[in-house]
Amino acid sequence: MSDDATDDQAPPPGARGLAEATAREAGAILRERLGGVRDVQFKGLVDLVTDADRAAEALIGERIKGAFPGHRFVGEEGTRGVEAEAGAAFGWIVDPLDGTTNYAHAYPHFAVSIGLEHDGKVVLGVVYDPMRDELFAAERGRGATLNGAPLRVSAEETLIGSLLATGFPYDPALRAEGLAVWGDLMHRCQGVRRDGSAALNLAYVAAGRLDGFYERPLQPWDMAAGTLLVEEAGGTVTRYDGGPFDPYGREAVATNGALHAPLLEVVARHAPDLVPTSPGLPS
Ligand code: IPD
Ligand code: CA
Ligand code: CA
Repeated sequence: MSDDATDDQAPPPGARGLAEATAREAGAILRERLGGVRDVQFKGLVDLVTDADRAAEALIGERIKGAFPGHRFVGEEGTRGVEAEAGAAFGWIVDPLDGTTNYAHAYPHFAVSIGLEHDGKVVLGVVYDPMRDELFAAERGRGATLNGAPLRVSAEETLIGSLLATGFPYDPALRAEGLAVWGDLMHRCQGVRRDGSAALNLAYVAAGRLDGFYERPLQPWDMAAGTLLVEEAGGTVTRYDGGPFDPYGREAVATNGALHAPLLEVVARHAPDLVPTSPGLPS
């Protein structure tokens, strides 16, 4: 559990219950529609969006903006709330369907991800897997839970004993770094999973099912909720250069803590931009 919570960073009353109920409701839409005839559209060469993503986001937007009209809101599929200029300190960050490529193939591994940040710091995170009925939730300073039971990251201390996960960007031109890190790590750990949902990867690090996760570039909605789960389960989340995590910073390395330095070290070997800006990291 992180110890940097203050009362003014606490989610407003009702926010957690609403996020949990809404994630379950949106998850039910996804579960019911799985395997049906999909209206699949392409945002890029292999970047999909389906009618289910849009239906789930419409529901989440309606519920959350209805309850908190003065909050900012960013949904992956375009739903927006008031802008920061309106003085809104709280901002919701929503991925209605994380794992949409899996979903479009009826591969049953995907999640709803709902995060809430306060002045850029995530204070509430909910990740819901509707196929396993697993609801991961965390509030800053209050720990992380899975269906109400406390979560704790793994105790693994060696890379060679670890199971990791990552993902790759939709744009093939951006995959070289991730493939190089993957190739290196595959000789140094028990496995590096690529199972198509960053939000579930992070939830699994929090649950001790995985020992670490890294990926870039990511979007805020892929990682906002999941990174808080990891921190609140006792793990560590940073940028690739080891600096403080930023939900809008497009990257995350998340581990059980013990494996953080070793994982950063391998990642940095294949991330040339980190060498000049991070003299403390090995070249
Ligand atoms: C994607 C998943 C995937 C990750 C990609 C994300 P989407 O989100 O989280 O695991 O590797 O970077 O874009 O498009 O399925 O919501
Ligand atoms: Ca996503
Ligand atoms: Ca998505």
